Amino acid sequence: MIIYTHISLKNILYNKTKKGDIDYLLINIYAHMFTEQELAQARAILKANKQENLLRFIDKLDNNKKEKIIKQILNLDFTQLNKLYEETKSSAEIINKKIENIKYVDEYKLSDEAKERYTNIGEKVIKNNQYAVVTMAGGQGTRLEHNGPKGTFKVDVDPEPKYLFQILAENLQRANKKYNVILPWYIMTSTENNEETVNFFEKHEYFGYPKENVMFFTQGNLPILLENGDLIVDKDYTIKEAADGNGCIYSAMAKAGVLENMKKKNVKWIFIGAVDNILLNMVDPILLGLTIDEKNEAASKSVAKASPKEKVGAFCKINGVPSVIEYTELPEKMAEEVDEEGELLFGEAHIMCNLFSIQALEKVSKVQLPYHVAHKKSNYMNENEEFVKVTEPNAYKFEAFIFDAFNFFDDISILRGKREMDFAPIKNKVGNDSPDTAKELYNNYWKNTKI
Ligand code: UD1
Repeated sequence: MIIYTHISLKNILYNKTKKGDIDYLLINIYAHMFTEQELAQARAILKANKQENLLRFIDKLDNNKKEKIIKQILNLDFTQLNKLYEETKSSAEIINKKIENIKYVDEYKLSDEAKERYTNIGEKVIKNNQYAVVTMAGGQGTRLEHNGPKGTFKVDVDPEPKYLFQILAENLQRANKKYNVILPWYIMTSTENNEETVNFFEKHEYFGYPKENVMFFTQGNLPILLENGDLIVDKDYTIKEAADGNGCIYSAMAKAGVLENMKKKNVKWIFIGAVDNILLNMVDPILLGLTIDEKNEAASKSVAKASPKEKVGAFCKINGVPSVIEYTELPEKMAEEVDEEGELLFGEAHIMCNLFSIQALEKVSKVQLPYHVAHKKSNYMNENEEFVKVTEPNAYKFEAFIFDAFNFFDDISILRGKREMDFAPIKNKVGNDSPDTAKELYNNYWKNTKI
């Protein structure tokens, strides 16, 4: 068996090396090696999957770079990738499906009696330590142009600026105090931002949240493909991959042992929310009580869409099952349709404020949600090892969406809240859904709210 290493064994034997150097070199021998067989296997895989471009590229690389890329090739699921690429050639057909609007309960039209009943049901679960919170923080916040994990973005709210993660930590601590519990808090990161996220929490001492109740887990990746189906070589000579979308949270939770951890703690209901909504109500007994009362396994809080073109997913029923059509996929005509009262027919906005029972999470962690394709700009390394910066979309990115899990339930509970109470997202650097708009909503909310 031939083992290729990026250092020569001869150098260790003939050079006068210090002990520390030898340790370093030995570590590297074990960390960076591949067999002739693995190389041949990687070549065969690339050939069989029409990735000749990468095949030619590999031959030019030194052993260190070759080793990383070979490992990636051997771990990739080419059957899945080829299928995803084929699917880019046909557009997602929602036109031929039966699409109806969905029923919801308006929180502000509930009788006092109903509100109290739902609150009591929900509070009982929370006080019994059967409730946990998950924050999805795997996205990169590209639109915000923030350099770092999105949760490390600082918003200039009153009375003093706060990081997004800090706002979430403080909200949860308020709930802990109110219900006399310590809610287990799970945070999903991506391979790209995990280390930076964990270091950030360490540096800020978890913003006072009891560290032993915080668990990080990491979502998976999928390669990005050029328009012709070729894999992309990145600046660091690895195959370019990106986070596989927030819909992969369910399988990631199972894989990382999060679901097991929850079961051990006797958690029965789990809230899953975004990192970027500074009015996110993560511990809402009314939503929880309503869901339990309606005997559902999943639920979501919504707000009425501000306009047909607002960049939010819209709740509906597709072929009879609860669904969300993402703003990128909702045809303009449908977005503008209104009912007899003049309300948007598909006007319930998905604000990423979702609730599941533990059984529901176990169920959806075992199914493969569909991937949605996005046409994006992606810089790449060309055959001459020049890194090409593109100005127009040239590649396909594949992402699963969290709300596609709703399709696996006959019904879900939807509680319509109010924008000024529930939804102040930070998406863009300026304009709509920017730090400025979110800050105003946040400051107004806290001006009118007593703790
Ligand atoms: C998302 C919703 C949209 C909703 C809107 C509300 C999806 C697919 N779309 O859109 O329906 O109306 O929020 O604000 O959910 N994330 C990950 N991993 C990923 C991708 C995203 O953890 O691979 C996290 C982000 O960190 C963030 C959340 O998911 O917490 C939302 O992601 P983002 O890309 O901002 O979604 P939007 O396009 O705004």
